[in-house]
Formats: sequence, C-alpha cells, structure tokens
Amino acid sequence: MTAKVIDGRKIAEELRKEISKEVEQLKLRYQTTPNITTIKVGNDPASNLYLRLRDKACDEVGIKSNHLEFLENVSEKEVLESIIKLNSDKNTHGILIQLPLPNHISQDKLINALDPKKDVEGLNPHNIGRTLLGDENIIPITPFSVLTILEHEKIDLEGKDVVIVNHSNLVGKPLVALFLNRNATVSICHVFTKNLKSYTFPADILVTAAGVPALIKNNHVNNNAFVIDVGIIKTKDGICGDVDFESVKKVAGKITPVPGGVGPVTVACSLKNMIKTFKNCFEEK
Ligand SMILES: NC(=O)c1ccc[n+]([C@@H]2O[C@H](COP(=O)([O-])OP(=O)(O)OC[C@H]3O[C@@H](n4cnc5c(N)ncnc54)[C@H](OP(=O)(O)O)[C@@H]3O)[C@@H](O)[C@H]2O)c1
Repeated sequence: MTAKVIDGRKIAEELRKEISKEVEQLKLRYQTTPNITTIKVGNDPASNLYLRLRDKACDEVGIKSNHLEFLENVSEKEVLESIIKLNSDKNTHGILIQLPLPNHISQDKLINALDPKKDVEGLNPHNIGRTLLGDENIIPITPFSVLTILEHEKIDLEGKDVVIVNHSNLVGKPLVALFLNRNATVSICHVFTKNLKSYTFPADILVTAAGVPALIKNNHVNNNAFVIDVGIIKTKDGICGDVDFESVKKVAGKITPVPGGVGPVTVACSLKNMIKTFKNCFEEK
C-alpha cells in the first residue's frame, strides 16, 4: 500500500472559492472592500515571489493587497512609525510584515508594534497568548495550514499522538498549543532530541519543519502515519521538503508533497486570516 498523497493545490482552490463567497458577503455587510497592507524591506527574491503569489490569491477572492516598500537601509524607527500609522488608519484592515528583514531591524519590535486586531500573521504576543490559552482568534498562518489539511481529511485530533519536528516561534510552538487545544498528545523534537526516530515512529501525525532534506526516511514512520512536510528547501534540483518523499510514500498512510502540499494551503490560510482581521476592525474581538 502506498500513502494517499494530499493535493494542497486542490485544497487551496476549494478554500479560495469559499473565501470569495465570504468576502462578497462581508463587502455587502460592511460596505467596503478588505484592504490589506504588506510591509516589505529590501528586495529579497524569495519574498518577491511569495508576495506575487499572495497578491494573485488576494485578487482572485476580492481582497485589495497593497505593499509599503522600503529600501534595505531604512531605519527601524521609520518602519515602526509606518506601522503606528497603519494601526490607526480606518481604511487598513490588516497588516503583514514580510520576512526576512535586514539585520538592523528587529522582527520582534515590528510584530509587537502591530495592533493585534490587524495582525494577519497571528504572531503578535497578544494573539500568540490567546492561541496558547485556547481562545484562538488569529492563529499563525503555517500552523493554521497544517490544521486545515487535517480538518480537510476529517482527522479527529482527540487522543492522537502528534510529533512536531520544529520548535520555532513561527511553526512548532504555536502548533503545540493548537494540537493541545484539540486534546491531542504532543511531543516536540528539535536538534537536541536524542533519538528522533523513537518519537517519530509511533506518531499518528508527524509534522516536520526542520529545513533538512531527507531528515525523515521510511524507517521514521509507521503504516498509518499522516506525514505533513512543512519544510521548504531550495536545492540544485529544485524545491524539496524534510521528507524523503518517494521512500516514505511507500510506508505512510497519508503524506503531503513538497511542492504542492502545505505551501499553497498556507497562501489560502493567509486569506482566511485577512477575513478575520477585516471582521475584527468592525466587530470588537
Ligand atoms: N510551507 C510553508 O508555508 C512554510 C512556512 C514557514 C516555514 N517553512 C519552512 O519550514 C522550515 C522551518 O522553518 P522555520 O522558520 O521554523 O525554521 P527554523 O527557525 O530554522 O526552525 C527549524 C527547526 O527545526 C529544528 N531542526 C533543524 N535541524 C534538525 C534536525 N536535524 N533534527 C531535528 N530538528 C531539527 C530546529 O531545531 P533547533 O531550533 O534546536 O535548531 C528548529 O526547531 C524551513 O524549511 C522553512 O522554509 C515553510
């Protein structure tokens, strides 16, 4: 038996259709178009590509996507001031900060300056705190896409053994909270984990986001495992994830490919978060 390969592009397409309908209704209800601004510093090619994909998706569902672009040498103070202005601008319904930022600008300072109501990425400490306390409002986009894939496959998380290989603020830490909020039993692994296989093998659900090609091989997973590969690594042969896809596909129950798995769902989940921030601007949350 080979694993069911999850088609992230198809899931994203379904999501965009639902989001389009919801945006249409919200425009009528609030008599305005959702208007989102991305702050971008410098000219990172990967960021430019990601922005183009997100703009296209916004356009498809009827969300207006603006960019506020700064040169690489802009001061932190200037970027912070622009965030303060956007926070109080009634016509801005959501703000994103495109990463990476140059070294002289603190990512944490910018994220902390965001009005939590308008924080599309769900990374402001207020939103992370709400997620941790089980009062989820805007949840970080990549963890949200992992949950969305599991929901799409109708996986009941209660009592499931989940293993996450990543303990970053962006992926692993919020994911732990989201799985615990759904009564799963969660283990989190990282570079200091002594015997990775001893954790990953029994897992019902394995989420990996290490950024290490072929970290997860066929002897790391069992026959029923749902393997979700968040890793995105650029190699000379193209993009790959953490999972040795061809060998793991032969043993796992379900698997997401890279590319075409988590990535497209992440873009669609950013649109879902834009809807949340848009609503937050009109309904006190
Ligand atoms: N699909 C998407 O939409 C999406 C979104 C965001 C990120 N990503 C991808 O996900 C990956 C992680 O992103 P990130 O920002 O979270 O990166 P990060 O901050 O570098 O986190 C990587 C995590 O993996 C752990 N790790 C690294 N090598 C390991 C190993 N050999 N064994 C066990 N654990 C290991 C690290 O542990 P230590 O901290 O202890 O070193 C860390 O917790 C990257 O490939 C990134 O491109 C994808």
